[in-house]
Amino acid sequence: MSKPRVVLGFESSCDETGVAICNTHGEILGQALHSQIRMHKDYGGVVPELASRDHIRRLEPLMKEALAQAGLELKDMDAIAVTAGPGLPGALMAGSAFACSLAFGLQLPVIPVHHLEGHLLSPLLADPAPAFPFTALLVSGGHSQLMAVNELGSYELLGETLDDAAGEAFDKTAKMIGLPYPGGPALAKLAEVGNGQRFAFPRPMLHSKNLDFSFSGLKTAVLTTAMKLAGLEQPTETMQLTDTDKADLCASFQNAVVEVLVKKCMSAVAQTGHKRLVVAGGVGANIALRQALQTQARKAGIAVYFPPLSLCTDNGVMIAFAAALRLAKQPELLNNRSYSMTTHPRWPLTAANQNRTTNG
Ligand code: KG4
Ligand code: ZN
Repeated sequence: MSKPRVVLGFESSCDETGVAICNTHGEILGQALHSQIRMHKDYGGVVPELASRDHIRRLEPLMKEALAQAGLELKDMDAIAVTAGPGLPGALMAGSAFACSLAFGLQLPVIPVHHLEGHLLSPLLADPAPAFPFTALLVSGGHSQLMAVNELGSYELLGETLDDAAGEAFDKTAKMIGLPYPGGPALAKLAEVGNGQRFAFPRPMLHSKNLDFSFSGLKTAVLTTAMKLAGLEQPTETMQLTDTDKADLCASFQNAVVEVLVKKCMSAVAQTGHKRLVVAGGVGANIALRQALQTQARKAGIAVYFPPLSLCTDNGVMIAFAAALRLAKQPELLNNRSYSMTTHPRWPLTAANQNRTTNG
């Protein structure tokens, strides 16, 4: 096997600063991550300007930490990778400006990475890893999509959310009933002790013929029920709900989301004919979703793959890893010496289909 190339990757698209080093053999050599959760908690959500400033502060120390962990120096790097989008504009610019300046100083190529491609490929780090082709459910704070992944760089959109993303629905619902930010994990935790049969929330688009989702109606149904329980006619900032009511709302909400996601996944694999289903993105950390998918997939004779829990939410590894896979396939990326990079706050994953050789 030839000597592997080493990629230093940066992720800063939202509220996590991640740095990692991967090689073209797909090995993780070092990684460091900082979550801004504590900083944003008081505001009940991500404050974009604070996020950008914090990324600027954290990128260099995290890079040093990842390098030390790998026992490597900057001179050992062959390429620099960075999330180019989608994400918060200022946060993306912080990462890309840092990565491009570093690459210019070191005269190394820059590989722009699509954040969702990073999520989509991170299950390849699972043991066992899925082989191509596979069907992927990508469920994060900003996206809910079903994709056919034919091979590296060949992605086909099968269906997506028409309104809120699954993670967004978790976060907004959690906030509504007074759970702390980030709402998704807090709601999932409370759901563990709740009665998921108590409220019959709608299963949006469960029986639609396509593979699209919609979660905003479900969120409204939870709000209406919560208001009734709290004896309110109008929603207020703080609704007085008992712990049992809160837990039952969480469990019933989670049941509805999980049922829709599982049904759509099964319809998607029936459509693609793939024998492998891969789940990626922050909501992929949800245990109820994992268990329900395992059960249904087993019945359908499908193997289901999840990234390691630590790689479900945003991190630097998925960016360095995606870039390393690209570099292994396209060694000509090493010739790139363009240091003016366009970031894309909104960017469809199908844009990652072209074999990009420039920072555009
Ligand atoms: O992939 P990710 O880290 O960031 C984006 O690219 O959006 O996903 C974050 C999302 C948030 O909405 C968060 O609430 C949700 O994933 N999330 C969860 C769980 N852990 C994270 N949602 C449900 N259950 C969880 N255990
Ligand atoms: Zn993400």
